Amino acid sequence: MPDHSFTSPSSNTYSESTFRDVIIIGAGASGLMCAATAGYQGKQVLVLDHAPKAAAKIRISGGGKCNFTNMDISSENYICQNPHFVKSALSRYPSSAFIELVERHGLAYEQRELGKLFCSERASDLIQILRTECDWAGVEVQTRCAIQQLSYEDGLYRLTTSQGVFQCAKLVVASGALSFAKLKATGLGYDIARQFGLNVIETRPGLVPLSFAGRWQKRFGELSGLALDVSVTAGGRSFNEAILFTHTGLSGPGILQASNYWQAGEPIVINLLPKKDVFAELLALKKQGASLSKWLQRYLPKRMVQQWLEWYPLNDQPQPDMANISDDSLRHYGEQLMNWTLYPSDTAGYDKAEVTLGGVDTDEVSQKSFEAKKQPGLYFIGEVLDVTGHLGGYNFQWAWASGVACGLAL
Ligand code: FDA
Repeated sequence: MPDHSFTSPSSNTYSESTFRDVIIIGAGASGLMCAATAGYQGKQVLVLDHAPKAAAKIRISGGGKCNFTNMDISSENYICQNPHFVKSALSRYPSSAFIELVERHGLAYEQRELGKLFCSERASDLIQILRTECDWAGVEVQTRCAIQQLSYEDGLYRLTTSQGVFQCAKLVVASGALSFAKLKATGLGYDIARQFGLNVIETRPGLVPLSFAGRWQKRFGELSGLALDVSVTAGGRSFNEAILFTHTGLSGPGILQASNYWQAGEPIVINLLPKKDVFAELLALKKQGASLSKWLQRYLPKRMVQQWLEWYPLNDQPQPDMANISDDSLRHYGEQLMNWTLYPSDTAGYDKAEVTLGGVDTDEVSQKSFEAKKQPGLYFIGEVLDVTGHLGGYNFQWAWASGVACGLAL
């Protein structure tokens, strides 16, 4: 068999290699879950990670409380070129299974809006649960281990690392994606996929703030820190969640959700008054001759209303006489409030993105076992795959479910 190498071999002083049934690259959410599952199946499992500590993303996620799953999960909550791919693993390991696991360990948790479950105390409690499961299952975890070379010969994978040479029959790539390089995120998983001839779908930042240039950046900067409950639409998907003005543009859950569907050069559309019959209310204002500004302040913060009326004066009047505005103008103004169309200049990039869209093409792996179809013994799980969840615990649930499905198949 040919020797596949993704880097040139460094001088290796180790003459002997250590064999394990299964080696998992990445001690993150999916890797630890997979490791414990395979360990309980009686497999000798070694997890290798170059970071100083396991599961750095769990530790900081959800503002330190980790939104670890959601009560309402379906394939609709995921973006993947094959929309059916996630169904098998998610149905075999639903959120109720993960909740059962954390309850067994006595984790205190709480349900917040839109079915999101968070740790009540610290996200590190969840890491402890995963580490305990790995200990009970006899899994070894080796951190500060840099992978230098990978080769495949005679049915065995050989990894040359900063901690020695390791061999295994089954190699699981759980090394995550490109978001948050400061937490040791790398594209190693994509390199390994390409090394073995697997297709990788182009990546881009997801669940990420959107940046604006020129006058809109200045305008949003002036409102920085202000949040609004609105509906945001991008690429045909709408989300009724809050947005936040920042110095560089827009953020907040509604924007992060929409960013997954936004493409460069396309607009986002914000409905500032969702669930309101805006035109009917404007007609009523006209009848009463009431103040547009006061009406807007019933639904939006005063700072926003002041700015809005400067940006979009009705009939060019900052304080229009409502009684004299035509119905057509009112309809047009209502449309403006409900379809505020904005053109972001860019996203805030991988450094600020919670996830990475794209990744290893799911057509290349089995949806049951996660083994590569054209490379026996090589598996890909978690975020390295072309599977991205919405905001709300969906990405961790994918990590748990793909980790368990793969672990059972090893
Ligand atoms: P993960 O990234 O967890 O693990 C990959 C592991 O591989 C890491 O330990 C890394 O060090 C290691 N690795 C990478 N390159 C390597 C290399 N070259 N050599 C050796 N090891 C390597 N999701 C959610 O559902 N709810 C939430 O609340 C949040 N919150 C959140 C906040 C922030 C700031 C971020 C950045 C992300 C989230 N997420 C989230 C997303 C969630 O963290 C993510 O989807 C999962 O951690 C993905 O799990 P994986 O196991 O695939 O990768």
